[in-house]
Amino acid sequence: MPSSRREFLAESLGLVGASLAPQEIFSKAKEAAAAAETTRQLLREDSRAKQLVSTLTLEEKIGQMAQVDNSFLRSAGDIEKYHLGSILSGGDSHPKPGDSFEAWRDMYDHYQSHALKTRPRIPILYGIDAVHGDAHVIGATVFPHNIGMGATRNADLAEKEQRITAIEIRATGIQWAFAPCLAVPQDIRWGRTYEGLSESPDVVKAIAPAAVHGLQGKGFGDPLGVLACAKHFAGDGGTAFGTGVPKAGEGSLHYPLDQGDTRLDDADFHRIHLQGYGGALAAGVGSIMPSYSGWNGVKSSASYTLLTEILKGAMGFEGFLISDYAAAKELPGSEKQQIETAVNSGMDMVMIPDDYPKFTRLLRELVHEGRVKTSRIDDAATRILRVKFAMGLMDPNRSLLADRSLAKEFGSAAHRAVARQCVRESLVLLKNEGGVLPLTKGGRIHVAGKNADNVGNQCGGWTVTWQGKSGNITTGATTILEGIRKAAGAAQVTYSRDGSGASGADVALAFIGETPYAEMHGDRTNLDLDAEDRSTIQNLKQAGVPVVVVLVSGRPLIVDSILPQVDALVAAWLPGSEGEGVADVLFGKWKPSGKLPVTWPRGNSTSLHIGDPGYETLFPFGAGLSY
Ligand code: BGC
Ligand code: BGC
Repeated sequence: MPSSRREFLAESLGLVGASLAPQEIFSKAKEAAAAAETTRQLLREDSRAKQLVSTLTLEEKIGQMAQVDNSFLRSAGDIEKYHLGSILSGGDSHPKPGDSFEAWRDMYDHYQSHALKTRPRIPILYGIDAVHGDAHVIGATVFPHNIGMGATRNADLAEKEQRITAIEIRATGIQWAFAPCLAVPQDIRWGRTYEGLSESPDVVKAIAPAAVHGLQGKGFGDPLGVLACAKHFAGDGGTAFGTGVPKAGEGSLHYPLDQGDTRLDDADFHRIHLQGYGGALAAGVGSIMPSYSGWNGVKSSASYTLLTEILKGAMGFEGFLISDYAAAKELPGSEKQQIETAVNSGMDMVMIPDDYPKFTRLLRELVHEGRVKTSRIDDAATRILRVKFAMGLMDPNRSLLADRSLAKEFGSAAHRAVARQCVRESLVLLKNEGGVLPLTKGGRIHVAGKNADNVGNQCGGWTVTWQGKSGNITTGATTILEGIRKAAGAAQVTYSRDGSGASGADVALAFIGETPYAEMHGDRTNLDLDAEDRSTIQNLKQAGVPVVVVLVSGRPLIVDSILPQVDALVAAWLPGSEGEGVADVLFGKWKPSGKLPVTWPRGNSTSLHIGDPGYETLFPFGAGLSY
């Protein structure tokens, strides 16, 4: 029997050598376990960072622990002045002016060249939310959001996705992705459900190592790899309804689930929410982001138990922790106390993200007053620098500016072909009466719905902007309608957003569902189809033609009432930039192979999961038909 809570939680995570994969298709997991010890050793036994830290001033060490959002950086010279260790682009902090690929690359190079002027010449780590491709940069290959990748059940494909993501990030110079998100969403009303791979910890655990390998490449030193960041540790997907805290100044918006509290005993917390981290650690993930949310009333960022005892102690994490955006500011007490709590709990780098002069001053004071020990500062700086050394960033012979030869890879046809394959494998066929699908390449196909011809809608949140946006938001993408037109062969394709004009067609396709949202703004208590979608279906029904409904959404929506009326139903999740992948499945170029990564509720019973008593659903976890 494990003697303590932390041993209990670490046990059976099977970090090394254990069977990580319940099914054969999850082929990457075992390989990851073998690589694990090597990576851990690499970090643990690397004495270069420790040596360097012993030569740094307190200011320089604290600088390594500071991460500033690009939009709050007052001048590039402040990188030198405050010895900053890291900068991020948050959801909306793009280079100025413009958002072109070149602008991102120039921004990165500009900041890095300042960091290289500091006395110890320590490069910055630049981080970005590349959670489905390097999607913040216009022209990037945009992959399906994680929920779609969970539907593929294909870890090899997820590794390819992340490999490409890493290369496109590197093309801009940036070397750190705040991904993969290992949330295990237990309540689809949560607006971040689509950022998680599945409600099943087994699926998350199996894909996590592949994602980390894809991002980090063959070991940390891979010049085409980026540092991965597993997030949000832990229990972000398990928050109890109503424990989310609305922020001041945000009016009547209420976030019933976001950033709330996960209330579970040790056994369930470990069984559901820690499994993915077992997988990521096995693959040698170099950074982890503690969650905004809490576990049984204690915020992750303030939990010595979770961060230091469990993660760094029992689970043997040798990389560094980066806080979530302004997460420390949500802890109790004054700003100084908040920093004290987070750092003493085990936070190594703080996503401040704004007032860095104040942060560095307060942390210096805390050290001088003995409230934060020098040994904790040394440990934090050592962990961060160990990763910088392992990544080869400290190598004087390595250029730290963006590799300009990678520009031709950014958004390339080869990359888009892999994203298209991800889309094909992510679609889940839920109903197909009378064999209405696959479509035939003849007659007339009428296409309708607000998500048929809209790049922004099919990409969802975390695309170009934080919340995402409808419309032509990026370049090089293909809408679903465009994909259908290309695939239709001899068939005539007509289109109306509202479904009018369908009569006389051989079949009608309705692309309906959700419009973009991200954190907080996607928390919804009612997952019914909206009025526009219902009227689109109504119009198609009135035309008296067979109707195929394709849901473009971040999660299951309530479809009980329309199900009997429609001939076929497909869940396409948020497929990203390659609309042709959707057409490939509808025309049978790819036979549907996706399996539900989450339970599809009957009515509003949105928090039932496979294994729960009374598991009565419209479509169970794992459902998925084919032709
Ligand atoms: C999100 C993280 C993200 C960070 C930086 C936070 O609000 O919770 O997932 O990595 O912002 O954009
Ligand atoms: C449930 C667990 C279940 C698991 C199986 C989770 O979402 O909460 O009870 O064992 O899925 O896949």
